Amino acid sequence: MSKKLIAPSVLAADFGNLQRDIEMVNNSEADWFHIDIMDGVFVPNISYGMPVLKAITKHAKKTIDVHLMIVDPDRYIKEFAQLGADILTVHYEACTHLHRTLQAIKAEGMKAGVAINPHTSVDLLKDVIKDIDVVLVMSVNPGFGGQSFIENTFSKVQRLKEIIAMNNATTIIEIDGGVTDKNAAELAKAGADVLVAGSFVFKAEDQPQTIKNLKQIANS
Ligand code: DX5
Ligand code: ZN
Repeated sequence: MSKKLIAPSVLAADFGNLQRDIEMVNNSEADWFHIDIMDGVFVPNISYGMPVLKAITKHAKKTIDVHLMIVDPDRYIKEFAQLGADILTVHYEACTHLHRTLQAIKAEGMKAGVAINPHTSVDLLKDVIKDIDVVLVMSVNPGFGGQSFIENTFSKVQRLKEIIAMNNATTIIEIDGGVTDKNAAELAKAGADVLVAGSFVFKAEDQPQTIKNLKQIANS
């Protein structure tokens, strides 16, 4: 993918003004809505669930990118498809039969994503890389917004890019956690296609301009 995409993470939005923040993303240069679903078991935090996602998809006019930080995600694949997810990402660490899970996601008409925690080697994805539409490389430990970026991510992205090329796969690479204007250029250079940004976007004074800048940096 040549043009780099920006995916604001709704986790950092103001939930009291959710519709306003969704419209801000609609009217910005952002490409995707990144939606973090946390169950308090796979990660030590609970975010929001189906009713909130339903409210988001009612107003959102861009790709809905759902990141499931939950155990046994197979239980909810159908439901997320019905709620309007375009991309459904499960964690490598949460799936015993990852290949089967990926097929189940695609059978519901969604793109299939696999997220990997900072300690998980990208080499573990080799045998399924052709079945993965998006690899979500976690650049923080999942569970919370606003954490600092783990530097080792750059080399992981480079290695993942090699694995994708070696296998003639069309998989794209998305980075999640601690993304700012300080690391966006280097991430893009290493091979990232999509940058998720929560706090950096929603804590900014001028949010649409921050999205625009990030996109420019990633595409420079
Ligand atoms: C963390 C989530 C991220 C988070 C990113 O578990 O998966 O998507 O919202 O937030 P920032 O950009 O603030 O690190
Ligand atoms: Zn996420």
